[in-house]
Amino acid sequence: MANLNDLAWWQKTIAYEVYPKSFKDTHGQGTGTIAGITEKLDYLAKLGVGALWITPCYKSPMVDNGYDVADYYAIDPSFGTMAEMDELIARGRERGIRVVMDLVFNHTSNQCPWFVESSSSRTNPKADWYIWRDAKPDGSAPTNWRSIFGGSAWAWCEERGQYYLHTFASEQPDLNWENPDVRQALFDVANFWANKGAGGFRIDAITYIKKPAEFVDGPVDGADGMSAVHAATANTPGILAFLREFKAAVRDGRDIFMVGEANGVAAEELGDWVGEQGVFDMLFEFNHMLIPMHKSEVWCRKVEWTLTDLKRVLAASQRATALNGWYPMFWENHDQPRSTVNFLQCEGALAKKAKALGTVLLTMRGTPFMYQGEELGYGNASWDSIDEFDDLSTRNQYEFALREGLDEVGALAACVRYSRDNARTPMQWDASEYAGFSTAKPWLPVHDDYATCNVAVQEADPDSPLSWYRTLATLRSEHPVLVAGDWTELMADDEQVLAFERTWGNERAVTFANLSDKPAAYDPALVEGLTPIVATTLGTLAPLESVVFV
Ligand code: NOJ
Repeated sequence: MANLNDLAWWQKTIAYEVYPKSFKDTHGQGTGTIAGITEKLDYLAKLGVGALWITPCYKSPMVDNGYDVADYYAIDPSFGTMAEMDELIARGRERGIRVVMDLVFNHTSNQCPWFVESSSSRTNPKADWYIWRDAKPDGSAPTNWRSIFGGSAWAWCEERGQYYLHTFASEQPDLNWENPDVRQALFDVANFWANKGAGGFRIDAITYIKKPAEFVDGPVDGADGMSAVHAATANTPGILAFLREFKAAVRDGRDIFMVGEANGVAAEELGDWVGEQGVFDMLFEFNHMLIPMHKSEVWCRKVEWTLTDLKRVLAASQRATALNGWYPMFWENHDQPRSTVNFLQCEGALAKKAKALGTVLLTMRGTPFMYQGEELGYGNASWDSIDEFDDLSTRNQYEFALREGLDEVGALAACVRYSRDNARTPMQWDASEYAGFSTAKPWLPVHDDYATCNVAVQEADPDSPLSWYRTLATLRSEHPVLVAGDWTELMADDEQVLAFERTWGNERAVTFANLSDKPAAYDPALVEGLTPIVATTLGTLAPLESVVFV
């Protein structure tokens, strides 16, 4: 039985992800600011948040909204100043909220001075800080790899007469981790932020840092004649040696956590990545996120899935992290469509859907990671044309879909369903113009329903998703079984209900979430001796009803 005192602060708290561009604008510019996050710390404290992950706010040309870093030691002026960042870290600490920085270490911006120098010649001191290769004899790219954002993963550099590799956009050249100076430069960045008082790090796209020894064409997997770079480079053997070095240089000896973004790590491999032998404290391994999406993340290729498919992968990750390390439970982040649409294929009100998913999020074993707006029950936004999207990957998926033979209506539908911009519309604080996010026209439109779906309205409504999230956060803080307890799946074969039991010494808790739009049933014996936290009819669940028994 886990002793509560043996658990670290980040295992006992709730994490919340902020996409700063869309959270709160204090400059009247239509994009969010760091001072805006500081202004909302009390809101986050009321949600039980102790770890605040902020997506990149470093100096950047913003081709990928900050995931193209030009200077890891400076704050982008659109977000504010370093003094404001220091203020956020300090004010957060006063409320028990630690800021978690996002480290983008697979690549930089092409405007980062490191890349500018590296691309200037084949002999400069940083000549091999990035992945440079000669063209094939016919002048074409070194391999047929397709970047994650579409098009070749190679871009030509006139000055060097060579290609460089970019796993994502061409403005995001991949760093060469084989070079020890590169690794040291990155560890220095992390230490700079840890010394500033960051409570932890989310490490971006980490599975791509190790490249294969030889670069060869992969099997063609699309109408563009290319092969997904992911298949060629993700999780290459040898990656863990780099990460062990990273951990020793940054994590060891500090009371912080590191959570890696590691699309492509299977549940069976988790033991190498987290826990005693691992390199991170937690891993976003995405196995459940890939259930409603085509395996190679091609939005226009439809997938069929059922609740038991989802439950199977969630259970596998739970079982793996019960033995090794800790699980970061999440339904949403800034790269995913809203969970009410992504994970619930049935009919029903968004508020009910959000509450059902929230019940699972906040009672599962692991640290819950909420994403801004999830607690309000957003749906996806409404988009009428491809020109309304800002996100570069959405535009690429649209082009890809057209090449795959879809017509414009079909290609747009795929983007409406999966676009990352669905998660990036402004936070809705109140019913005033622009939803209290900004006094200027926001960079992405607020939702049509912002007058009713906003923080002010939901705070006043005891039945709202926000009130439910707060209730569950309090419940979690009052019942150690929900933090430290073991996890056992219940009703594994049921296609309507996601159910599990938590046990800790003599304490038990049971969660049921009916993720369907039909009434459902469970065996009342499962909750004998326990009390529901809200009124419910024993043994039955209304459509989308969820309940916790403690
Ligand atoms: C993953 C991030 O979450 C995403 O937003 C970004 O575009 C890519 N990595 C590239 O950094």
